[in-house]
Amino acid sequence: MAKVSSDTRQRIVAAIKGTLALGTLVFATQACQTKHAAPTAAEKQAPSAPHDDAGSRAAFLAAYPVFMHPRCMNCHPTGNVPLQGDDSHPHAQNVQRGPDGKGLYALKCANCHQSANLPGLNMPPGNPNWHMLPPTMKMVFHGKTPAELARQLKDPQQNGGKTLEQLLHHVTEDKLVLGGWDPGDGRTKPPLRHAEFAAMMREWIEKGAAIPE
Ligand code: HEC
Ligand code: HEC
Repeated sequence: MAKVSSDTRQRIVAAIKGTLALGTLVFATQACQTKHAAPTAAEKQAPSAPHDDAGSRAAFLAAYPVFMHPRCMNCHPTGNVPLQGDDSHPHAQNVQRGPDGKGLYALKCANCHQSANLPGLNMPPGNPNWHMLPPTMKMVFHGKTPAELARQLKDPQQNGGKTLEQLLHHVTEDKLVLGGWDPGDGRTKPPLRHAEFAAMMREWIEKGAAIPE
């Protein structure tokens, strides 16, 4: 866990309260490029489970509540404003997605969201790569039915050209996904454990990635 100096914390608190011009906040720029790590050995294996539409649908329905949980949905909204809190209200400070998903003008995500969680209630959750998707490839979870979500996840036109194996790798390894289970003080966690969620996604894909009805 990276330690955040109390000085940094003070500055962020000040910025959040609007007592400090945001332009004066200078933090080290972080590598925001998402890295696609090579698939692990387990992921390279050819699908082993036999095709089974009913089993596949059931696995997706078991995983679905995780996508709908605020820890995930808040970064995958319909519009261009990220959401906050367990009631998924629009992000304060008029924060916007911006052209690359990293914020608009001086309100860059990484100005406030550090590489690790800041201790205390209502502090910004941290992650070295905290950002959302660009407006051209939104990957919306908010308001999607299970069928709509499954179609979107499978569609290379809507998922940034990912294969199902890459999708599985993402939900298994990605730091923003894992962060949902280490969300910072006072925040609830998604309903399944991460390992259970990843197992359900694997089963959905291995049994044929069927679209729920
Ligand atoms: C800080 C914002 C943020 C949070 C929180 C977040 N995501 Fe994401 N998510 C992203 C970004 C950015 C991408 C695109 C990254 C990429 O393409 O590798 C993404 C991509 C995805 C994808 C890839 C879609 C595809 O077709 O490959 C899935 C699935 C996903 N997220 C699931 C989740 C789940 C599940 C959670 C909660 C446990 C979650 N996300 C939380 C920002 C976030
Ligand atoms: C001015 C500072 C600031 C900026 C800039 C900022 N955030 Fe936040 N963000 C916060 C704070 C503070 C919280 C925690 C609010 C709370 O818990 O009440 C937060 C919470 C969030 C949450 C909710 C997390 C959860 O699990 O519920 C999301 C999602 C989020 N921010 C996304 C973003 C994205 C994406 C950007 C850039 C486009 C961004 N933020 C820019 C300060 C900021």
